Amino acid sequence: MTKDKTILRALAGETLPTPPIWMMRQAGRYLPEYKATRAQAGDFLSLCYNPELAAEVTFQPIRRYGFDAAILFADILLIPQALGADLWFVTGEGPRLSTITTQAEVDALKPVDAIHDTLSPIYETVKILANGLPEETTLIGFAGAPWTVATYMIAGQGTPDQGPAHALKSENVGVFDAVMERITEATILYLSEQIKAGAEVVKIFDSWAGSLQGADFEKYSLKPMQRITSEIKALHPHVPVIAFPRGAGERYKGAHQAIGADCIAIDDGVTAAWAAENVQTGGCVQGNLKSSHMVTGGDALVSETRAIVDALSGGPHIFNLGHGITPDADPENVQLMIDTVRGS
Ligand code: CP3
Repeated sequence: MTKDKTILRALAGETLPTPPIWMMRQAGRYLPEYKATRAQAGDFLSLCYNPELAAEVTFQPIRRYGFDAAILFADILLIPQALGADLWFVTGEGPRLSTITTQAEVDALKPVDAIHDTLSPIYETVKILANGLPEETTLIGFAGAPWTVATYMIAGQGTPDQGPAHALKSENVGVFDAVMERITEATILYLSEQIKAGAEVVKIFDSWAGSLQGADFEKYSLKPMQRITSEIKALHPHVPVIAFPRGAGERYKGAHQAIGADCIAIDDGVTAAWAAENVQTGGCVQGNLKSSHMVTGGDALVSETRAIVDALSGGPHIFNLGHGITPDADPENVQLMIDTVRGS
């Protein structure tokens, strides 16, 4: 029965007449029902760690739109927190963490198998979702890629150019590698538990891959994702992996093979026509509509959506945005995108 799920069919390499669709950050602040549940939870992290409410916000966009996949509601920064970093969110600004730049601070982190003490509510959320989703809806679990998570752990916040992580990498590569290693091991355990709890697909978000230059891109983006993918597949051979080296540009070419991923998610920095020729030849592609169309809507949204569907119609494709939907988006534009993709 699971084999009939359109997302799983696309991930297995099938070219479908209509691409299945879901949307990054589909549970989020553009939805009034999300804001209501978040207010009920108190704050964002309390929402992440409350299985009933985290499942509720995951269900909301499925109920409203009937997306083909649901993505677990959580955050990539729960791993640093589970490893012992302090984590909090400043309203209107984003995440803040205690920084990590010395060997003593690496040594003070918790051992990787201690992460489950913090993350067990997330596995509960996955179980509720696995039992409660419509049978045609695929459940996606996720984690951040080591480089992206490291950029936040090192800087203690989001940064425009990931400067502090680049600085540590060039000034004290031993400490940098130790941070990367700890995150990589924790991520393998975390994703594996999500799969045991019922996640059918996992996605690895390397949101800041684009700032890695030259050999660093392979060493710190592709390689760690490859290692996570191969270890996950050794433990769970039938679970497809989606990798998202955001900002990779021409380096998206060959990414399926380099990572061993079933699907590469592409942002809006490359055209769909280029991706069809250079990326989709390696397997399923997901993306790449500009998320600003969810704010502006209209004819441009319809024509751009059709252009992406057409360009990628010759191979396996999952329709998605190039990056997460923003809080100022209009929920009606999301419906228009879905209707356009499904031709209704
Ligand atoms: O896609 C989904 O709906 C699943 C849930 C999800 C969230 N974050 C929920 C969230 C996923 C997959 C993420 C991934 C994530 N988190 C990434 C990688 C993808 C990307 O967007 O680049 C990153 C870098 C983070 C770290 C993070 N979390 C930041 C920088 C922020 C603040 C920015 C913002 O949008 O406010 C968050 C908070 C966050 N994570 C929100 C949501 C719905 C908003 C929190 C709120 O409700 O106030």
